[in-house]
Amino acid sequence: SHRIMLGPLVAAIDQGTSSTRFLVFNSKTAELLSHHQVEIKQSFPKEGWVEEDPKEILQSVYECMERTCEKLTQLNIDITNIKAIGVTNQRETTLVWDKETGEPLYNAIVWLDLRTQSTVERLINKTPGRNKNHLKHKTGLPISTYFSAVKLRWLMDNVAEVHEAIVSHRAMFGTVDSWLIWCLTGGKSGGVHCTDVTNASRTMLFNIHTMDWDPELCKYFGIPMEILPRVRSSSEIYGLMKICSSWKSGELSGVPISGCLGDQSAALVGQMCFQDGQAKNTYGTGCFLLRNTGAKPVMSDHGLLTTVAYKLGRDKPACYALEGSVAIAGAVVRWLQDNLGIISSSEELEKLAASVCTSYGCYFVPAFSGLYAPYWEPSARGIICGLTQFTNKSHLAFAALEAVCFQTREILDAMNQDSGIPLTQLQVDGGMTSNRLLMQLQADILCIPVVKPSMPETTALGAAMAAGAAEGVSVWSLNPEDLTEVTSEKFEPQINPEESEYRYARWKKAVQKSMNWET
Ligand code: G3P
Repeated sequence: SHRIMLGPLVAAIDQGTSSTRFLVFNSKTAELLSHHQVEIKQSFPKEGWVEEDPKEILQSVYECMERTCEKLTQLNIDITNIKAIGVTNQRETTLVWDKETGEPLYNAIVWLDLRTQSTVERLINKTPGRNKNHLKHKTGLPISTYFSAVKLRWLMDNVAEVHEAIVSHRAMFGTVDSWLIWCLTGGKSGGVHCTDVTNASRTMLFNIHTMDWDPELCKYFGIPMEILPRVRSSSEIYGLMKICSSWKSGELSGVPISGCLGDQSAALVGQMCFQDGQAKNTYGTGCFLLRNTGAKPVMSDHGLLTTVAYKLGRDKPACYALEGSVAIAGAVVRWLQDNLGIISSSEELEKLAASVCTSYGCYFVPAFSGLYAPYWEPSARGIICGLTQFTNKSHLAFAALEAVCFQTREILDAMNQDSGIPLTQLQVDGGMTSNRLLMQLQADILCIPVVKPSMPETTALGAAMAAGAAEGVSVWSLNPEDLTEVTSEKFEPQINPEESEYRYARWKKAVQKSMNWET
């Protein structure tokens, strides 16, 4: 059949907490040509524990690649036009596998997991002045259950297979990016064990000033450095794809994997926030607001993280960001669906909430995994308050959406206080931004416009851009003048600021209750 001629194409693997995607872009126009998505199962074996199966994660990547390649073929697009592949991923989620058998030694411990809460409390109590920011000067992070080091420590102490593999020098540690790149470049027969600076900066073992693993931090957590992946920039050739030739996606064999970024960094790149001061907020499982601070790491006085934003090439400088992390955003929708059964889809949530357009004084703080920024309070738990005889599931649905908006307001306030230059509008992306009620509510609660790109897959776009721009690939220019103009939609605030302040003040009271409900 006749095959359409296009410019070079670049693909991205987007492995998020809730789903995996494979997407193919035209590198000249940034147009999304084809994609496929597969949901990921999460298991909750004990209260507060969250795990995923590393093999299922890998399998979902293969399935997405296979289906996307089939779709491209149906569109008469030649798969051999794909010149590079980028990887972007849920960050912090921790895996250990055996390099000789290629087998994972335990499930992946997901970033949201709380099993390390007592370890974290013990570590903080041992610091001078019980200071959770004891390691912040090196890592940019508070000591928290969120980051990989404590999860890895738990695996070493509680899983015999992990302990044995470490003693016999067969263990490899990695976040999801490392696991995927190792497997996709050959696994036990020659796979590349690496990570990028953005993912490394979320482990608590990485020094964000020297841009390398930090021997003192490794000693502090008792982590042997030989199990760590090599740290590389976010845009360079890590290795070549090796895929079984009997598949359609076998045609991807030999394509360089040349981009790697944690998903929040990738979204920052995909939203073209390359200037100091530019910011984006992504609504996924959680919600993450990142503001580019340029070549210098800025330490927050208001509970934000300092993180590596990207380093787009081996010889390019690193850029840093301030980050406000909210653990539960989209996850609250899944909870209303799976745990309460009051909705059967996210569209239904929007409809329910829109049918009342008020929470009727009900406030819902979904602190399922403690509270992240700006509080960093692992012992906080979710609460719903302000209920009356009148409250029904529609009000609860509205309160859930409002919770996502209030949490964003809290991190935006912190961001504005830290930088002294308030944001005048907020660029947003991620799955939940298809909810128009949420977007309007967000503008109302922030009292600034919310701007959403018409192509929602900015995370994947960022990873594809990094992959396409890598030295030796160079089919995608990151020069701002060459970058495609993106079209977007703007939501203007519609309620008066006093009303918004009143509701926000009530929310803050509810947050206080979620932190002290046990005492
Ligand atoms: O830090 C966790 C974050 O990377 C997860 O992103 O999109 O899966 O909620 P997401």
